[in-house]
Amino acid sequence: MKKVAILISGSGSNMVTLAQSMTGDHPARPCVVLSNRPDAGGLDKARALGIPTVVVDHTDYKGDRATFDAAVMAALDPYAPDVVALAGFMRILTPEFIAHYAGKMLNIHPSLLPKYKGLHTHQRAIDAGDAEAGCTVHEVTAELDGGPILAQARVAIDAGDTADSLAAKILPLEHQIYPETLRAFIEKP
Ligand code: GRF
Repeated sequence: MKKVAILISGSGSNMVTLAQSMTGDHPARPCVVLSNRPDAGGLDKARALGIPTVVVDHTDYKGDRATFDAAVMAALDPYAPDVVALAGFMRILTPEFIAHYAGKMLNIHPSLLPKYKGLHTHQRAIDAGDAEAGCTVHEVTAELDGGPILAQARVAIDAGDTADSLAAKILPLEHQIYPETLRAFIEKP
């Protein structure tokens, strides 16, 4: 049985759908949920699902990104994850962290990559007058939001759409493609 660590910073809705997908004949189970924020709403959801949780508070590492990442690795490695799924983990990872989990780490990004890497993706798509927006599941490499694309889902941007209304249309698609893509990633020969 493969083990999946899920990293969050916020509400954890993607974490919940990933965790709930790993049942029955699924070849993996969630082994730990880690957050960089002690107040992340997703922590309570993980506990309610019976998943071990760990907090590594980035404010304890005042801008020392490498030491924070080392603390996260030290917290994760006792769980020996086969896959690390970033799910709204709002931290830029060091090359050392990415190398440590090379070939094992996925992320979901709320844009149709390679467009709109970084933040405020929905507003940028609206401001650019794009006809559509969406989300992408990709492997994590040293290039921020730039790894091999594994899956995408897209929606039309309607005339009255705001960043919030667009996010509300896209989040359910994230909840659909991330579990599907995680399973395919684990099952690939
Ligand atoms: C999602 O919009 C995801 O695309 C982005 O951060 C948000 C996470 O939401 N990475 P949640 O914490 O999974 O609810």
